[in-house]
Amino acid sequence: MQAEQLQALKNWFNQYVKNFYHDDPNVQAGIRLKEEHTQRVCEKILRIGSSLNLGPEDLYLAETIALLHDIGRFKQFVLYHTFNDRRSENHALLGIRELERTGVLAALTEEERNLVTRSIEYHNLCTLPPDLPERLSLFARLIRDADKLDILEMFTASLDRKNDKPEAQQISGLPDTPGYSPVLVRNLLQGQLCHYNDMKNSNDHKLLMLSWIYDINFPYSLSEIASNGCVEKIVARLPKTEEVQKVYEHLQAYMARRLAR
Ligand SMILES: [Fe+2]
Repeated sequence: MQAEQLQALKNWFNQYVKNFYHDDPNVQAGIRLKEEHTQRVCEKILRIGSSLNLGPEDLYLAETIALLHDIGRFKQFVLYHTFNDRRSENHALLGIRELERTGVLAALTEEERNLVTRSIEYHNLCTLPPDLPERLSLFARLIRDADKLDILEMFTASLDRKNDKPEAQQISGLPDTPGYSPVLVRNLLQGQLCHYNDMKNSNDHKLLMLSWIYDINFPYSLSEIASNGCVEKIVARLPKTEEVQKVYEHLQAYMARRLAR
């Protein structure tokens, strides 16, 4: 893939998103939220890709995937006024339909088109399907890391400015009740991902976000998380129990082990 092709896609993206700009300030804020998220995920995927010494053509392709991974979010928010897939529809599949409808990927080779669409399709799955072809596995893991890095950072920052977003823009919309669900703590202590369906309150959401650490693929991404203090900041907002302290120590040990390799 070439630089001019990526530039053409960026121009298309900017025009496409402007179609969803809205007079309703709530809708507009949601559109801008995802536009800015996309920009940051593009920057992050380039940094992760560079840490793996990918060549320029692969970096263009990685950036294309980052640019388009959430393209379904814009239509989703205008149609349903929520980013919650369970209350609307799968935004990855919606995005792929938009890419097909507009024919924007026509200039790419079939292999590139396939890598872009499959990586988008897989970016929001709980876990990747097993035995993916090597290149698809690479690009799918790149977008999943870049996306998670940004969501973790946004989530952590949002803990400091509670309730400043309309409910529709909050993914979970869960009540801010005391305590947490034991099953999520169990998952974390067993080194497993938590499940959306187990979340009952905002503390559960914090635990689920922590469990994403186990699904980070590349050392560079994990070192970013270690250095930006997300884990400490999220744990600080959880109830101060022995269990939570154990979870914290478990995650610290896990990250130290992986980063030492
Ligand atoms: Fe997404």
